[in-house]
Amino acid sequence: MLKKLLIISYFLSCTTLFAQHDEAKELMKDAECMSCHNNEDFAVKKGKVESFKKLSQTIDACRFGNDADWFDDESHDVAKYLNHKFYKFKE
Ligand code: HEC
Repeated sequence: MLKKLLIISYFLSCTTLFAQHDEAKELMKDAECMSCHNNEDFAVKKGKVESFKKLSQTIDACRFGNDADWFDDESHDVAKYLNHKFYKFKE
């Protein structure tokens, strides 16, 4: 199991940023994230998502709450994608 995860993360780390963003978009489509959200939801708001860590945690809360079947790596890709596109936190 661990070996399989290592292989998967090896391949993920080899993909280009572009492919990662494409994949993140697909993941969010499959998990129907945008059935509750629109782009305006993803912005820095006081007292809420104010760091990359907090962003990752919120995404985890949302994916567990909605039974999205993601690997942690995939969740991380989505966090990076949303951060790159909207939040612009330092990672
Ligand atoms: C059933 C509705 C629902 C679905 C589906 C959903 N979310 Fe959320 N999400 C919420 C609610 C409610 C909040 C909290 C909003 C608040 O407190 O401002 C939230 C907050 C967030 C935030 C923080 C927004 C901010 O900047 O304050 C992110 C990022 C996020 N969700 C990502 C996702 C992702 C990725 C998915 C897909 C796995 C997803 N959500 C699916 C309801 C949903």
